[in-house]
Amino acid sequence: MSSIKHDLTNNPTLDALAINGGTPVRTTPLPWELPGAHFIGAEERALVDQVVDAKSPFRFYGLDAQHMVDRLEAEWCRKFGHAHALGVNCGTAALHIALAAGEVGPGDEVLVPGYMWVSCLSAIVRLGAIPRLVDIDNTFCMDPADMRRKIGPQTRAVLFVNMSGAMGRNAEIAAIAREHGLFMVEDCAQAAGGSLHGRAAGSFGDIGIFSFQLNKNMTSGEGGLLVTESEHLYKRCMAVHDLGFARNKHGRLDPMDERYQLWGIGSRMSDLTGAMALAQLGKLETITGNMRRAKWRIRDAIADLPGLGLREIPDPEGDTGPFLITIYDTPALCQRFTAALQAEGVRGHPGSLACITMRDWGMHWYFNVPSLVHKRSLSHDGFPWTHPANAFATDYSYQRGALPVCDDMESRAALLCISSALTDEDVNDVIAAFRKVGAALLTK
Ligand SMILES: Cc1ncc(COP(=O)(O)O)c(C=O)c1O
Repeated sequence: MSSIKHDLTNNPTLDALAINGGTPVRTTPLPWELPGAHFIGAEERALVDQVVDAKSPFRFYGLDAQHMVDRLEAEWCRKFGHAHALGVNCGTAALHIALAAGEVGPGDEVLVPGYMWVSCLSAIVRLGAIPRLVDIDNTFCMDPADMRRKIGPQTRAVLFVNMSGAMGRNAEIAAIAREHGLFMVEDCAQAAGGSLHGRAAGSFGDIGIFSFQLNKNMTSGEGGLLVTESEHLYKRCMAVHDLGFARNKHGRLDPMDERYQLWGIGSRMSDLTGAMALAQLGKLETITGNMRRAKWRIRDAIADLPGLGLREIPDPEGDTGPFLITIYDTPALCQRFTAALQAEGVRGHPGSLACITMRDWGMHWYFNVPSLVHKRSLSHDGFPWTHPANAFATDYSYQRGALPVCDDMESRAALLCISSALTDEDVNDVIAAFRKVGAALLTK
């Protein structure tokens, strides 16, 4: 909480603010924003115990393999209507595997939004391709108009990201990708269980990816998943995620098929992780339902505050709800409003990022990723930036200033994490705090 006193005036609404010495709306921290973690319980334990009791934590064979990852994949396909799913060890690896399955490499440019997560960039760069930044629109996802502007002769793929729990203009992006023959990966790491007008997150591109890291809608601590309708892409993902080859019916490596003699990155999901994720998948609707209801109750209750902007969500029913994004007239007001909310008790436990401005959202913004801005390399020769096939990108700049909407939103927007464990009282407090601070700081 800021110790700075603001606005010491005779204005009663300003004087009543906790940041100015008034009584805060609440003093207890909000519950942790870690959606799946609140729901870890007997179901996870039972399935994990099953794997431990069978002494078989490897997915492909063992003393008495329980096939938890197989069950997770089958259940995911059944629930969301995919032909293939593949469990992996994390979302970062899933992105690398997906782009590798699409044969992305040197000489290729991959369109990627400037509001994303650092993993989106690292997957592109590690494969030897060049990230081409695309701006966002008021959905906080990739702007189709800017995507069209950025397509050039080197453009090979688009990495669309369903940011902050909700989907954007996925169908338009997919249509543009088809029109230009681009390979499309849909990053749904932050939006498991989401949908857009009835169509599941992950079904808009050639491959969809998910993460089960602790901050995500469902969690196994670490973990991830890819989905695709293409058997060929599935087999490429299978080989790349493992040791570069297929597996036979006994779970042993089978290098015979020439089409799938590749290079693997050792990103298999263990059956212990599969057990956790399978149990969490059974709770996903409950978790996202809790967050969506709480978020939209808050959103609806503050929508009339003058001068307060809200992120556009094209399909509220498909929103998974973990984040509420608010937008202010000026950067100064955004900082001030957020500090005032925190002082009213809209904040989490120490270390939580429950109520922050976008300035504090780190490597979700392109210009905050130093490895991108400074074009860092894993190898001594500067690859991929120095690769002759990437000479077209020599002048690309990733400094702040490359994407006007991203730059603007990073300075004027704020983020409230919506815990899956908010009580009605917590929600009422958040609404009361927004209205109290709004009455004092927002002008008609
Ligand atoms: C949009 C996005 N993509 C990818 C990832 C990477 O997932 P993981 O942490 O499982 O590697 C994350 C989360 O960390 C993310 O938010």
